[in-house]
Amino acid sequence: MLEKRGFDLSMYKDQCIKRRIASRVRARGFQNAAPYLKLLATEESELDALLAAISIHVSQFFRNPEVFAQLEKRVLPEMIRAAMRRKDPQLKVWSVGCASGEEPYSLALLLHELKPRGLKVSIVGTDISLPILQQAREARFAEMRLNQVPRRVREEYFVQEGQHYRLMEKIRGMVDFYPSNILDEESFPAADLILCRNVLIYLSRDDQDRILKRFAELLPDWGRLVLGSAENLLGAARGLFVTELPAERIYQLRRAVAPGLIN
Ligand SMILES: C[S@@+](CC[C@H](N)C(=O)[O-])C[C@H]1O[C@@H](n2cnc3c(N)ncnc32)[C@H](O)[C@@H]1O
Repeated sequence: MLEKRGFDLSMYKDQCIKRRIASRVRARGFQNAAPYLKLLATEESELDALLAAISIHVSQFFRNPEVFAQLEKRVLPEMIRAAMRRKDPQLKVWSVGCASGEEPYSLALLLHELKPRGLKVSIVGTDISLPILQQAREARFAEMRLNQVPRRVREEYFVQEGQHYRLMEKIRGMVDFYPSNILDEESFPAADLILCRNVLIYLSRDDQDRILKRFAELLPDWGRLVLGSAENLLGAARGLFVTELPAERIYQLRRAVAPGLIN
């Protein structure tokens, strides 16, 4: 996997990986791993299927709607005010492990409506999987992915195409997608708001620590980090961030808000 797809399995938590590999072994009709390994050596498409199974790409527009409600009402307006006080007002958003794009597009929908004139917004979605990024760029979604999209937003920004809903170009064009492995030290773009939801759960404690430390270095003082609903700050990261909204897993930099406090 490392050689052929640049995906280092040893970085992932053992139990997760084993479960998902076992599901592919069964899906191909094998009782054990030996014949499956032979198949993997000869069938490139199975390697992609395995990569997709390991890095599950489940997402939804406005997943955990309470998070997006807080972003819309409280966090983004405050960040926009901070950005607008700067000489060249910009707001850079990074969705890490963006899967088929629902998360960065949800942000684009919010920012399209909130953004004041004069603010430059850039939204980047990165993921390790090339096929899922291709889907993200296409921006065609099954109806179930839009369950949390308010009717007015659905009618205004999506066009129904058969069984699917296609996001309009004015929103699609706000997001750039590119492949990147979060475990790779080189691949961190500049960002004021980082959403890294439901990605860290797959990684070891050490890698989580290392990545959270990089996020803290990257963010400006007025920046924010958003984690997934099953993810928490652990270990050294608790010294770097303070919790702004606990239920929504929204964090600010400790150095910016409470330099003396321990979380
Ligand atoms: C469960 S999805 C999360 C999608 C979205 N963030 C959300 O919460 O709805 C996890 C995504 O992380 C991606 N991923 C897994 N390991 C990664 C890595 N090392 N670097 C970048 N993306 C990764 C997977 O390909 C998958 O699309």
